[in-house]
Amino acid sequence: MKKLAKIAAFAMAALMAVSAAGCSSTRTVADIQKDGKLIMATNAEFEPFEYKDGGEIVGIDIDLSQKIADAIGVELEVSDLAFDSLISALQSGKADIVAAGMTADAERRESVDFSEPYFNASQAIIVSVDSDITGPEDLADKTVGVQLGTTGDQYCTNEDGESEYTVGGVTRYSKGMEAVSDLMTGRIDAVVIDNFPAQKFVENNPDAIKVLDTALTEEEYAIAVPKGSTDLLEQVNAVIQELKDSGELDQIISQYISAE
Ligand code: ARG
Repeated sequence: MKKLAKIAAFAMAALMAVSAAGCSSTRTVADIQKDGKLIMATNAEFEPFEYKDGGEIVGIDIDLSQKIADAIGVELEVSDLAFDSLISALQSGKADIVAAGMTADAERRESVDFSEPYFNASQAIIVSVDSDITGPEDLADKTVGVQLGTTGDQYCTNEDGESEYTVGGVTRYSKGMEAVSDLMTGRIDAVVIDNFPAQKFVENNPDAIKVLDTALTEEEYAIAVPKGSTDLLEQVNAVIQELKDSGELDQIISQYISAE
């Protein structure tokens, strides 16, 4: 019977090891290769970085992630989620990377690891063409729309009290487009969102809205991976470096952003 007990103990230990591995949220590059796909989570409401064109999700971040999947030798699977659930998707193992025009900031660095930056951005202010708002100082008694969980949300909500300008009130939307619609119907006075999506919204509605000249922040976009995913992060950084050196990153970007 001693032998049986030993086998039982061994089986128990094996089972625990398997379930522990199953719970682990970090997949190594080898795990991803075994699975045959890289799962990239994003929020496809952010033209030109990720947006829907017909039924398809396209954009700079999709092309960039495709390059990473190619380098690893697997398929790319794009998972379209709410922006404010992207970090937890990484933490729970539902995604391997997040590419979502995500700003690498100190708060997020506590929960995820970021690649080298691949794009410089800022927070822009959109107002209606006939607005009396001419700069950030005019927002003090105005209602501003933001996308939930973004750096624009953080800036306007100003929980840490560090924002240079304060706003009268904040309305949060799950999609930037919903904020822009409310701006155009006069429900809110301004929208604070990243400069390139802001530019796209204006291009699509040039008679109704405009972007102000003053930027509120300077930010850098980077790809996020689960904390401690060292080999995946190295792989992602190697691809970004290669794309920068070869000029391919600029090529990808110029397909979506016209240089004016
Ligand atoms: N850069 C901003 C941030 O990191 C906004 C990103 C929004 N991205 C998106 N795919 N909706 O908070």
